[in-house]
Amino acid sequence: MRLDRLLANMGAGSRKDVKKLIAQGAVRVNGSVVKDCGFDVDEAADKVEAAGKTVVYREFVYLMMNKPAGILSCGDGVPGVKVAADLVGDDFGFYDLSPAGRLDADSEGFLILTNDGNFIHNVISPARNVSKEYFIRTEGVLDENDCEAFENGVVLGDGYKCLDASLEILRTEIESKTSEAVVTVHEGKFHQVKRMVLARGKKVTYLKRISVGGVALDTSLKPGEYRELTREELNKLGAL
Ligand code: URA
Repeated sequence: MRLDRLLANMGAGSRKDVKKLIAQGAVRVNGSVVKDCGFDVDEAADKVEAAGKTVVYREFVYLMMNKPAGILSCGDGVPGVKVAADLVGDDFGFYDLSPAGRLDADSEGFLILTNDGNFIHNVISPARNVSKEYFIRTEGVLDENDCEAFENGVVLGDGYKCLDASLEILRTEIESKTSEAVVTVHEGKFHQVKRMVLARGKKVTYLKRISVGGVALDTSLKPGEYRELTREELNKLGAL
């Protein structure tokens, strides 16, 4: 990785500040002053110091994003498709970020972006049983029969029997025939929640993921914003 990029990405200053530092001879790689911004650093092996301080390169980053509707969580390599990782700025944008569990394009909420493939595997593996909570609005009134069906494993249109889930109805408007509810599932099949609701004869009109593995979406994050997951949150998710 370029020296100026590594320093800027590791928080040693803006790209401009970093270029200045390098030009001033304040940056050393393995003890020697390097004045070439484009110097190729082996971030895993080289010791980099800026203004006397060792710059620690982090191999993995873990972000909590509030994904806005209208953005794919993953483009599956299709060129030109805007995806959630494209919303990440210069601070972490150079990491090769992928989502740990997808959200539909029209869904919002908690999306974990990371470059740690093992972590992604752990979060999405059915064996790990990581819970996901969704706030939903429906066309069609949800009732106690739906709650019972969710608890016993809804059978989807294609015959697949879902793992036990929970449905907590928050409110219902009889006039407009709509409901709001929180659904908790422990698996992540394609369009899972929408299909579960559809199997009960109702339709999801709004869906927002509000927690993963007991870690709640930070409500201060506006759609499109992100922050790093804290150590405590990563612990809960089993990353540490
Ligand atoms: N279930 C869905 O149907 N869609 C999502 O985006 C997530 C869960």
